[in-house]
Amino acid sequence: MTEKRRYDAVAIWLHWLVALLVLVQFATGWVWGFFERGSEPRFYLFRTHITLGSAILALAVARIGWRLKHSAPPLPEGMSRPQRIAAHAGHGLLYLAILVQPALGLLAISAFGKTLGRWPRDAHNLGAKLILALVILHVAAVVWHQFIRKDGLLARMLPARFTAGSR
Ligand code: HEM
Ligand code: HEM
Repeated sequence: MTEKRRYDAVAIWLHWLVALLVLVQFATGWVWGFFERGSEPRFYLFRTHITLGSAILALAVARIGWRLKHSAPPLPEGMSRPQRIAAHAGHGLLYLAILVQPALGLLAISAFGKTLGRWPRDAHNLGAKLILALVILHVAAVVWHQFIRKDGLLARMLPARFTAGSR
């Protein structure tokens, strides 16, 4: 059996759908503050944030469930041990992020009738900054693979029809 060189279609579509939704979460979370309290756009952005954030939680559960049954293709050859550890740790933290961040968001808006104080909101706001840093590192790693190492890593995460000819 030849070794799997790319992610499967479900993993690919879930990755890009969640990535897109996470970007919308940053946009909505950081933009609503520019609108007056009680104004229509602020309310709309907030509602969008809660709805799409909750969708991320559901998709994260589906995605992690799928990933547990479908292994990722092995990392490109020639990566050093620290690079491999960094790649696995980074991916693990990104999975953790898409579970914990929406959970903190849900706790921030409703603590099941209990008052939890400000900590879920503070943790959610701090989480946003940490996730932004993680995503920047993630994209920087992809750029490094694509343009410096030139190992075709990005193609593994793109639908096959966009990368005809490569495996
Ligand atoms: C424009 C932004 C992004 C690009 C270009 C990108 C690109 C990629 C690529 C090429 C891989 C495959 C790595 C490999 O072959 O080993 C990957 C994996 C992954 N990405 Fe992204 N990504 C982006 C945004 C995100 C975001 C926002 C998240 C989640 C918050 C995310 C989470 C992950 C995870 C968890 C994996 C590992 C998948 C696994 O091995 O199970 N990515 N990404
Ligand atoms: C991965 C998913 C999510 C991301 C990346 C995200 C990101 C953000 C960002 C960037 C902010 C602004 C932080 C700041 O002001 O410094 C924010 C605020 C907020 N988010 Fe999310 N969010 C997510 C999911 C959710 C969910 C599911 C909910 C609720 C169900 C939620 C509720 C909130 C609330 C209530 C605030 C305002 C906190 C405050 O009062 O300061 N978020 N989020």
